[in-house]
Amino acid sequence: MLVFAASDKGGTGRSVTSANLAYHRALDGDDVCYLDFDFGSPTAAAVFDLPDVLGEAEGRGLHSYLKGEVGEPLRVDVWARTEHPVLLSRPGGSGRLVLLPGDRSGGEFVTDAENLHRCVDLVLRLKREFDVIIVDLSAGRSYAMDLALLATSPRGGLGRLKTRWLVYHRWTRQHVMAAAELVYGKQGIVEAGCAMGHDSDALNAAIRFVRAAVPNLESPLWSQVSPAQYAWMRQCDTQLEEIAAGRGIGKTRVLSSIPLEPVLQWQERLITDEDVHDRRIANVETWQKMGELAQRLTDDTYWGQL
Ligand SMILES: Nc1ncnc2c1ncn2[C@@H]1O[C@H](COP(=O)(O)OP(=O)(O)OP(=O)(O)O)[C@@H](O)[C@H]1O
Ligand SMILES: [Mg+2]
Repeated sequence: MLVFAASDKGGTGRSVTSANLAYHRALDGDDVCYLDFDFGSPTAAAVFDLPDVLGEAEGRGLHSYLKGEVGEPLRVDVWARTEHPVLLSRPGGSGRLVLLPGDRSGGEFVTDAENLHRCVDLVLRLKREFDVIIVDLSAGRSYAMDLALLATSPRGGLGRLKTRWLVYHRWTRQHVMAAAELVYGKQGIVEAGCAMGHDSDALNAAIRFVRAAVPNLESPLWSQVSPAQYAWMRQCDTQLEEIAAGRGIGKTRVLSSIPLEPVLQWQERLITDEDVHDRRIANVETWQKMGELAQRLTDDTYWGQL
């Protein structure tokens, strides 16, 4: 399965949540690879605790590969190379977890037919090795997104590959509206995709939204706030649900909603079982919701029911 992680805005939680999603699928036994197609800011290595990889990818990452400067992009075995002490001991039964980083100083670039060809070729090869391929796209209507839409269009070469789109947004008015625009707006994913030959219904059916860093008003975090504050927040929450539903990104279109997690507020990282149960620094709900997202991603029945 090919999974594109998209968002309209930056800082939505797209990379951190997608990396945790990759981790959970690998824990469940899938072979997973994570491609950093955030051309402008390829920093996924940090989330997997791979500090040396940023420098190592210089001239050998996905930018260099797509531009034809190297024949193969750098691959990093996360279990073997991470500096995260818990991840280093790869759990029994887990699948492979491999990062294909971008070049540190790569930057955005206009993509052409050659780049498209290399992208398709790479994904087709990865498909033989991995169960899940997660592609973290640059924010907004980027060149990376155009490449993804073109590659998966009928004339692109990946048209027959099972593909899913996750559109991330935070739980604020601006983010909700932006996420809806990115998908349904003028030149949004659906319109741009159809112009490239995608079937509108099929593309729509492949898209789900992921709400990230959502405050849970029932959490003890908010138990100290004044009644007026609480009532105001509750009202905002209800209004947000109405805005989301009115723009076609209401609950039935949401794959998962990841709670605001204090650990992630401070650090971009994978949340481990140990963080929850031994060190007790992360909330159990966050661990559960990341797991739920990972389950639902590949659950055709659930996906079809939405
Ligand atoms: N559930 C969460 N709770 C709290 N903070 C979060 C949560 N998810 C992500 N964050 C934090 O929000 C910030 C932005 O997340 P992230 O880098 O994943 O977003 P992004 O959409 O990939 O941004 P960019 O466009 O810059 O690549 C990070 O500091 C991250 O740790
Ligand atoms: Mg990111």
